[in-house]
Amino acid sequence: MIFTVAIDGPAAAGKGTIGRAVAARFGFAHLDTGLLYRAVGAKGGDPVLAARGLVPADLARDDLRTLVAGQAASRVAAIPEVRAALVDFQRRFARAKGGAVLDGRDIGTVICPEAEVKLYVTASAEVRAHRRWLEVGGDVSVVLAEVKERDARDMGRTDAPLRPAIDAVMIDTSAMSVDEAVAQAVALVAAKLGEM
Ligand code: DC
Repeated sequence: MIFTVAIDGPAAAGKGTIGRAVAARFGFAHLDTGLLYRAVGAKGGDPVLAARGLVPADLARDDLRTLVAGQAASRVAAIPEVRAALVDFQRRFARAKGGAVLDGRDIGTVICPEAEVKLYVTASAEVRAHRRWLEVGGDVSVVLAEVKERDARDMGRTDAPLRPAIDAVMIDTSAMSVDEAVAQAVALVAAKLGEM
């Protein structure tokens, strides 16, 4: 069976948590595509060459979750040649047999417009900054500024900007528990699987 769940949305909206839970529930593979851009940003040197030469070990670095790595990822992600180098891998993953969940910024719009289920997961910048601050600590106003800066860059770039696909279902997690958000996503996937 080929079945893709595309989950897009801004940083710290809950895409990863929902993606992992949906994948576990249905036995699908899961790809956090932000990790690809984080790995490219962290490699240093020419980002286009880094993207073309990406290997699995690059994704296993333990410094990819930091705010600095997120900003570096957002910067290299605005380079069209970097994005182009990562397309085939993501498309193969999305359409591999057995079902796949991919979360990122452009999965439903560019990488897999034919995805069976498209979700756009969002939350207010303040709620997202608070969640990120719980993970990374420090000054919450600095974390909020980082979140807003990254939103502006990811939504404002020319190539594959962050935006909901026209057929995406919106899930605003601002006032939702993790369980509620996961339950909504699982119900949408189950309904689509039931139609097939
Ligand atoms: O999801 P994340 O915070 O790990 O993503 C880090 C950055 O990578 C994000 O700010 C923009 C970029 N990105 C992208 O451009 N396209 C994707 N599909 C995933 C991430």
